[in-house]
Amino acid sequence: MKQQEILDLLKKMTLEEKIDQLLQLAAEFYSENAEERTGPMADLGLTETTIANAGTTLGVSGAEEAIRIQKKYLEKNRLGIPTILMADIIHGFRTIFPIPLGLGSSWDLDAAEKMAEISAKEAAVSGLHVTFSPMVDLVRDPRWGRVMESTGEDSFLNSRFAERFVKGYQGENLKEDFSRVAACVKHFAAYGAAIAGRDYNTVNMSERQLRESYLPGYQAALVAGAKLVMTSFNTVDGIPATGNKWLFREILRKEFDFQGVVISDWGAVKELIPHGVAKDEKEAAKQALIAGVDIEMMTTCYSNYLRELIEEGQVPVELLDEAVGRILELKNELGLFEQPFRGADPVKEKEIVLSNEHRAIACEIAKKSMVLLKNDDILPFKKEETIAIIGPAAASKKILGAWSWQGKSEEAISLVEGATSLSKKLLIGNEVFDYLEPTTAAIQEALLLAEQADKVVVALGELEEMSGEAASRSDIRLPSAQLAFFQQVLEVNDQVVVTLYNGRPLDLQGIDEAKGIVEAWFPGTEGGRALAAILWGKYNPSGRLSMSFPETVGQVPIYYNCDNTGRPFETTPDEKYVSKYLDVSNYAKYPFGFGLSYSDFRYSEISLTSDELTPTTEITVSVTLKNQSAYAGEETVQLYIHDLVGEVVRPVKELKGFKKVQLAPSEEKIVTFSIDESLLRYVHSNQEMSSDAGEFEAMVGPNSREVSSVRFNLKK
Ligand code: BGC
Ligand code: BGC
Repeated sequence: MKQQEILDLLKKMTLEEKIDQLLQLAAEFYSENAEERTGPMADLGLTETTIANAGTTLGVSGAEEAIRIQKKYLEKNRLGIPTILMADIIHGFRTIFPIPLGLGSSWDLDAAEKMAEISAKEAAVSGLHVTFSPMVDLVRDPRWGRVMESTGEDSFLNSRFAERFVKGYQGENLKEDFSRVAACVKHFAAYGAAIAGRDYNTVNMSERQLRESYLPGYQAALVAGAKLVMTSFNTVDGIPATGNKWLFREILRKEFDFQGVVISDWGAVKELIPHGVAKDEKEAAKQALIAGVDIEMMTTCYSNYLRELIEEGQVPVELLDEAVGRILELKNELGLFEQPFRGADPVKEKEIVLSNEHRAIACEIAKKSMVLLKNDDILPFKKEETIAIIGPAAASKKILGAWSWQGKSEEAISLVEGATSLSKKLLIGNEVFDYLEPTTAAIQEALLLAEQADKVVVALGELEEMSGEAASRSDIRLPSAQLAFFQQVLEVNDQVVVTLYNGRPLDLQGIDEAKGIVEAWFPGTEGGRALAAILWGKYNPSGRLSMSFPETVGQVPIYYNCDNTGRPFETTPDEKYVSKYLDVSNYAKYPFGFGLSYSDFRYSEISLTSDELTPTTEITVSVTLKNQSAYAGEETVQLYIHDLVGEVVRPVKELKGFKKVQLAPSEEKIVTFSIDESLLRYVHSNQEMSSDAGEFEAMVGPNSREVSSVRFNLKK
């Protein structure tokens, strides 16, 4: 359809039809069973006509169902406007990949793009058109359950991931490539900064910090072409995002030049009432539309009040036309006017969804996402060693994570299953071992196995529902029954490797005596196979944390790129009046960028081509990396920069580049990064990006803590 045809179509629409386009309802409203519809309909005060004409749909699945709904929709729609089917495809559709925090730990952008591409392929053939992904919220507080949906605490790394997620979902041309879906970046803005890590809580930060740390991820997704933006539940400087005109009209539309569709988060328009900025649904509708929210998800403030608001002149009809125009344009960009069923294909669906090829890729990506946190000469296991695999996560298949809507646990590979194909010398129990309250029989059986083994894998972690939305925790240690069990194991065998399935950085106090720790996150369908490959050395661990693990929850929020204080503890740690705790260090237990390998990588001193930089020149930092081991492996070389004297206080270091380098045993490679003036810019007090002349430090190393540095000058 051409631009002009869309405008003509808009002209033909009645006021009611336009308002209906702005409503998004969940799949249950389109159920064939009238009884299933009536309850939710009555709750929202909706008529069959409104439902039939609601512009978009949420959570439909399956090609046949998608086709049925679209057909029915088109039969009722006077002007033949198709609906858009949207859903949350966050880290895989049916083939489930590691949770985004795990993908973040891979530092592997190709892997992220591949994950998105496969997710899109499976979703599109099952009839979906839009995914509510990527979530690019910057996260600094592991108490927040939704850190699992983020790629971590660094805006540079998050931005690189955001771009590649969008590319993987959308491909080059949505109108022709029906194996792709449109991406909806979320949650705009700063949802990850909920105070105290409590979900939906207030967000409070300066505009400068918002721009410097929180907005770049969303912007990167938009530059990459994301077609939709979702609002966040939180307030931004006192005004809920979903009614925040400055955020959407000034920043998103004007500054970022976003032309696509803005959708509210689930129920967020009506939540302007409990937030206490709107007295009723009518006011909520007015604020949200004026703020620039095009689609209202799952509440009916627009449906019930926009007509009145427009007739009374409280809301200009042009705002409604704009919103409808954008929705029609998205339908057009998806090719739905010509091909309303788009990629939906019940035959191909059976072939493509959860294919062996997809499983194999999910397995590779899961391996890349796992992080070896500790290894006191216990890993990898040798063929001849007898290994007991015990604990709640040993045989568990509930390893997909909280956001795997179509994933099925029974299709997942447990650790025990993964290990069985690698070793004949396993000791495995029969009792079900509960995560929170294991029975005495299960514990006794496990201890007996541990006693007989050369080494023991104690497979621990969180239940899937302990992270994700509405799953904040104030105590981020492992469940107490697991810590007690770990101590019992030590008494019978101290050769222990702990493996962890979880959705957030944990406080790992209580498992200090483990000789090895592998962070496996919620690794998805192929998780157990990937983890076993790491334990038996079939894969050399390469993951690096993208979010700090605190020593204790009391240090939270803790992140590597913190600001300088006036009393830095580093220079005089024994001084009383410096910024520190009495009872714990300032440092993370495992910092951002950290992860071990079976290889032993050695870094040379770093060198610079020149210690002077101008706005038109470039300098190169280089380091020689050597693999001093018998294992081929992959290192992630990281570049950090510190502006020694800024107009605004600068972080002690900021990630500005990274490279993944493969090294054969004893191999040596020179790794280089180029630095130009644009890399040194940041948001100044006037809210604009610029750089400061003066001295900088360039740091290179294997993680954010262990770096060596050189200085250079920016001359302007
Ligand atoms: C979540 C969103 C999600 C939406 C639709 C909300 O509760 O915050 O991330 O996309 O539901 O399922
Ligand atoms: C404290 C002040 C105190 C001053 C003199 C500083 O370190 O922050 O509160 O008045 O020392 O003792």
